[in-house]
Amino acid sequence: MPFYSDELIEEVRSRNDIVDVIGQSVQLKKKGSTYFGLCPFHNEKTGSFSVSPNKQMYYCFGCGAGGNVFTFVQNYENMTFPEAVQYLAERAGVQLPQREETPEEKQRAGKKEKLLEINKEAAKYFYALLRSDHGAQALSYFQGRGLSDETMRQFGLGYSDKYRDDLYRHLKKCGYEDLLIKEAGLAKYDEKNGWHDMFWNRVMFPIQDLRGKVIGFGGRVMGDGEPKYLNTQDTLLFDKSRNVYALHKARSTKRPYLLLCEGYMDVISLHQAGFTNAVAALGTAFTQGHAGLLKRYTKEVYLTFDSDPPGIKAALRAIPILRAAGLQSRVVHLDPYKDPDEFIKNLGVEAFEERIASAENSFLFRVRILQNDYDVTDPTGKTAFHQAVAKMLLEFTDEVERDNYMEAVAETYHIGFDNLRKLVHRLGTEEGLAAQRPARKSGVKEKKTEDGTRTAEKLLLTWLIEDESLFGQISPFLTPADFTDDIYRRAAELVFAQHDEGILQPGKILMSFSEEEQSEVAALFHATLEHIDTPEEREKALRDAVIKVKQNAVADRTRQTDPLDLEAMQQAIRDKKDLEKLRNIRFSI
Ligand code: UTP
Ligand code: MN
Repeated sequence: MPFYSDELIEEVRSRNDIVDVIGQSVQLKKKGSTYFGLCPFHNEKTGSFSVSPNKQMYYCFGCGAGGNVFTFVQNYENMTFPEAVQYLAERAGVQLPQREETPEEKQRAGKKEKLLEINKEAAKYFYALLRSDHGAQALSYFQGRGLSDETMRQFGLGYSDKYRDDLYRHLKKCGYEDLLIKEAGLAKYDEKNGWHDMFWNRVMFPIQDLRGKVIGFGGRVMGDGEPKYLNTQDTLLFDKSRNVYALHKARSTKRPYLLLCEGYMDVISLHQAGFTNAVAALGTAFTQGHAGLLKRYTKEVYLTFDSDPPGIKAALRAIPILRAAGLQSRVVHLDPYKDPDEFIKNLGVEAFEERIASAENSFLFRVRILQNDYDVTDPTGKTAFHQAVAKMLLEFTDEVERDNYMEAVAETYHIGFDNLRKLVHRLGTEEGLAAQRPARKSGVKEKKTEDGTRTAEKLLLTWLIEDESLFGQISPFLTPADFTDDIYRRAAELVFAQHDEGILQPGKILMSFSEEEQSEVAALFHATLEHIDTPEEREKALRDAVIKVKQNAVADRTRQTDPLDLEAMQQAIRDKKDLEKLRNIRFSI
């Protein structure tokens, strides 16, 4: 990963006006000093999405998405931070340094380029063969499976000929060396057979990376034969556990979820039917690497796995992997058909939409499958089933969520809610889980104790950045140390420091926070108060906020001080005086 200095990143940020950048993709209208539009990060009709040229930040009052120009590009264009920096640098004509690569890195990068090139050549060759006389049978195979010419073109489908070294000879003719052909996984050599292709007489599915470049192939026998699908072995380019079939197409879907299938043909059928959000893991196993990749493009995954026992097993395996990656999942039922391809062919698009709409919650899916292992007509079996379900319910560390699931399970399986709750609680205590404090979820959604202090802190930060004249009036009473929450305090420190340096740039402040924290910090700079109309009301709200924050800080300090600490006592007296003064002061605002 390239490394860019803070100065350079700052130059890129300041040379890309956030209104211009966002204005390229979101229609914005000016209202006062701020621009508003429809939020691109959630579905809405009201226009809660704001972009502030002064703050160089965006913030959605509806969904809480927020950040600076980098955050926007990262989230909207699905880019990593370095990619966003490169994109915006290019946009503004900022020259980024090319870091010197080590010789090994250079060689590796050169090798990758060459492998991409040879894969492209192979894909072109297979593609042309499918459309030649030799490909007649393969073409009718695909046509027989209902694929249109347009679909075959879009997925670059091809055919590998019957001769054992057909592709090898073609690649040699193009000037590629044996070693590269071998390293691309396209052909191998042995004493007995000499050079021979990996794929013979198969219909070919090129596998593309996120940029659409061919990195490997899947080849299917036409008709019966073993193995049904042959895939390129792992190469320098091709890592099955880190690539997802058709994600380069599906990533730009408008739908808020992806459809995860088992097979190449399922994905292609779904795309042909208009479900351009369909993808598949390569080979059969779904890995953490796949989940991490999907996470970059969506929040929810609908599992459209085969309806047979291996498909169910694969779904049961994928669900916890998705959950661990922070993705929600649901299970789409395809019965009486085996897979999405067959379903679409037989029942069509609308029926599939209906199945999507009625997709099963994946926890409830797991419970339903679990029940198959028990004889619930027998009291012993029934008890064992209830215990197993209770144990699963313990996976939810959030109590509200767990309660909701208990309710759903109790209703579906006719278990008394109170009995189930007791069972869950008892098991939890036995496992020592209930004794622990519920695990805190990291990130924005964490519910913080809200006694008005945080609201007051937010208001102060927002007003300070919107009206710098307030610093002089407020700083005799408050310092950043008076902000109690970690993120709030760090934000306050940066706001005060920038003011002291004479250039307040909220958009820059975000650079000091992690990607997860940025929208929370954006919220700190976008506090609003309702029912504030007159200057008097505004002044009172400001004074109340300062007092609230001060009181909270004083209370915090008092809790922590030793009554014998003389200095602390003096501070307490000063605090008290300050608070009295504050009650009588009038800010000019
Ligand atoms: P399936 O056997 O379900 O195939 O394997 P499919 O997608 O329904 O294919 P058709 O409809 O019979 O043509 C699902 C996926 O598992 C991998 C492939 O990625 C395939 O798409 N697979 C399957 C293999 O890698 N090798 C095999 O031998 C079989
Ligand atoms: Mn199939």
